[in-house]
Parts: sequence; C-alpha cells; structure tokens
Amino acid sequence: MSRLTVVGAGYVGLVTAACMAELGHDLVAMDLDEAKIRTLNQGGIPIYEPGLAELIAANRQRIEFTSDPSHAYSSSEFLFICVDTPPTPSGDADLSRIWQAIDNLPPDEGNHVLITKSTVPVGTGGHVQAELAQRGYSHIAYVSNPEFLREGSAIADFMHADRVVVGADKPEVARRVAELYAGIDCPVLTTDVASAEMIKYASNAFLATKISFINEIANVCEATGADVKVVAEGMGLDHRIGPHFLQAGIGYGGSCFPKDVSALKQIAGNSGYHFQLLNAVIEVNELQKRRVIGKLKRHLGDELRGKQIALLGLAFKPNTDDIRQASSVVLAGRLLAEGAHVVGYDPVAIDNMRETVPGVEYAASSMDALQGSDACVLVTEWEEFLDLDWAQAKEIMAQHIVVDGRNVLDAAALTALGFTCEGVGTRPRRRHHA
Ligand code: UDX
Repeated sequence: MSRLTVVGAGYVGLVTAACMAELGHDLVAMDLDEAKIRTLNQGGIPIYEPGLAELIAANRQRIEFTSDPSHAYSSSEFLFICVDTPPTPSGDADLSRIWQAIDNLPPDEGNHVLITKSTVPVGTGGHVQAELAQRGYSHIAYVSNPEFLREGSAIADFMHADRVVVGADKPEVARRVAELYAGIDCPVLTTDVASAEMIKYASNAFLATKISFINEIANVCEATGADVKVVAEGMGLDHRIGPHFLQAGIGYGGSCFPKDVSALKQIAGNSGYHFQLLNAVIEVNELQKRRVIGKLKRHLGDELRGKQIALLGLAFKPNTDDIRQASSVVLAGRLLAEGAHVVGYDPVAIDNMRETVPGVEYAASSMDALQGSDACVLVTEWEEFLDLDWAQAKEIMAQHIVVDGRNVLDAAALTALGFTCEGVGTRPRRRHHA
C-alpha cells in the first residue's frame, strides 16, 4: 500500500482521505485551516456527509491530520490536490489554492505524483506541468483524476464508482495512480490530461442539461395537460436516454452543477467558442426556481404581502447541509421581496441558511413551520417530508395550498384531505368541495 497526501480537508479531500484509507493506504490529510485540523484531530468532522465520520473513525490509525505542508508533503509518493476552485466574478475558476499547493511542494527529492482532483479548467494541467518544468521540479509527475462525487452519497460514489478517470502524459504514471484504486471494481479510463479535465465538465454539464431539459418538458406538460412523471418514465425506458436525472423539479443547485456549467461556458468563450446550449441550461434553471412564485400567486392571489409561506427543506438536495445555489435561497429571497412572511425548516441546513438569508423565520420542525401558514412549498425532498402527517397539517395551516417542488408527495391523498396540491409538470389538483 502507498503513502498519500491529501491537500485540502474540505468535502472532496475528506471523502478521498477516508475512502483511500478504507482501501488500505496510509495518508496525511493537510489543510492550512488550523481550526479545521484541530476539529479533525479531536474526532470531529467539519462537514455533514452521511457515513463520513464513521469511515474516518474506522480508519483513524491510517489517517494523520496536519496543517503543516512541509510535514504533509515530504513523506508521500502521491499528492492529491483537493482544494476548492470557486468561481471568480468573471465566471472563471479561482485557481489560487491550487497554485498555493504547488508553491508548497517539496524540494528536489523523492518520486512524487501530483494528482489534481479539484475541478479545474481544461488546460490547467498543461499550465501546471509547464510551471513545474520551469521550477526544475522534474521529479514531480502530473495527473488529472477528476472526482464524480455527489453530496450525500459521496462515499458510495467513491467506493462503487462508475469509472475512474486518470489523465496523464506518461503511461507508467497513469498505471501507478490507477493501482491506488485497485480495490474498486470499475473501469479505469486512461486519457491525456486535457481530456480528463474535460470529462468532468462535460459530465456535469450534460447532467445539468438533462435536468433543464426535463424541467422545460415539465413546463410544457403544465400547459398541455400531460404529466411529466409519466413522460420521464416513458423516456427513461429508452436505454439510449436512461431513467436518471430526469426528475423535474424547481431547479438544480449545489456547489458543482451551477459552477461547472458556468465555467464550461466560460472556458468555451475564452477560447472563442459560443456554447449556446449552456446559456439555455443556465437560464431555464434560474427561471425554474422562480416559477414557484407564480404558482403561489395563482392560488393565493397576486398579493403575497403578509402571507405566511412555509419552506420545507432548505438544503440544495437531501442528506446534505449545503445550501449553495439552493432553490430555497432564491425562493426565500423572492418571497421576502414580495413581502411574504417566510418560515423555513430543514433537518440540518438551518444554520447555513440563517447566515445567507436573514429575514426568514426558522422553525424547529415541519409542523412548527406549517403552523399558521397559508401555503407550503416542498423545496427539498428529505425523507422525513415523505410521510408527514398531512391530516394534522390541515388542522394547523391557515390555508391549504401545497406546492410540491420535487413531485414526491401523494397529490391524490392530499387533495382528499382538502389540500390544493400542485407539483411540477403535473396537473394541479384542487381540493374537493363538499
Ligand atoms: C453533482 C454530480 O452528480 C457529481 O458527479 C459531481 O461531481 C458533483 O456535482 P451533487 O451536486 O452533489 O453532485 O448533486 P446531484 O445529486 O448530482 O444533484 C444536483 C442537483 O440536481 C440537486 O439540486 C438536485 O435536486 C438536482 N436534480 C438532480 C434534479 O433536479 N433532478 C434530477 O433528476 C437530479
């Protein structure tokens, strides 16, 4: 087994560290944020990801946490760069943390492989290699090894990957990196560095396109009386299309899709190509988050001022506390601007949301959020919302409007209870009048 260093103890870094340790490797996880390292050394986990704390605890004897780069770098053969690359105001990726990691590389000793897992613009690997050559770091080989981890199921995605992509100029280096994944049963695709970088962007942009596509179909379904859930099922049975990522809803969010789609558009633009399709993908997604307002107005009247709206689920998807680019953020902001009283509830994301969207009242439970509300929007399909006691909700809500932003509720049952329930791309069901 090899000794690895994982640079960046954020989301990708910690998952990579935990899973590589599970595969039997010894490793050092390094982050310049001393508070984060202190938390990890005390047995805490600075992020929320199901199963991560347990996996780190189970492999604790193989993982060392440090904030000292020279200690972290000197002892390892493989250096995984897992720092974040947030978008700059121009929409490009901010690579300063990557360059910082390179500045800290060890002097001329050992036989290191620098492996970038962070999502970086196509061509970055080439620049890094040129920089390494210029600094005389010929002992450091370079590999692009993108991650395809979904928040909330990152450990399963790592351990049961669909593929491992290894982009390297030297076959021998690619082989050594591929061997690190020996315990994982999946195809390993060896490519050149730029293609590996592009595979990551193209995959995420394609998935985002699939979502925006089905969301537009949903919108047309609403206008024509078709039901997008059945339409998606019928489409998904065609194996060329497949059933995944065809769930219509109120838009995609998270730290990856919005950022990567914009970055790919930018990468294309910077090289003189106008990637028209991606403009539509982005715009459809933005509008999709806002369409809920129109639905609420249709049922509550144009004046939302003074109306109480409960938002169930604030995270950008279930099983994460991440609210980056979440539909809830746009929705809460729009509703507050309309003068509505917004009450939000989420099992784990309230603390993050509180910092980002002041002005929302946060409830301790779904029922607390529904108490006195004129309408409820199911924003994130957390499991606990799937079997809510809607009979009780009926008693405590002021009006009985439900917008199911993820098409997960039983609209017929809700209607039978006296709710008016509207999904995305499905026909609204009005409450039965006695
Ligand atoms: C994504 C990619 O899936 C992963 O491979 C990549 O490396 C990181 O970005 P993640 O952002 O964690 O992962 O979540 P994902 O499960 O892909 O969902 C992204 C967003 O799309 C969520 O907001 C989700 O609600 C939305 N979505 C997903 C839909 O609206 N419909 C779908 O059918 C699927």
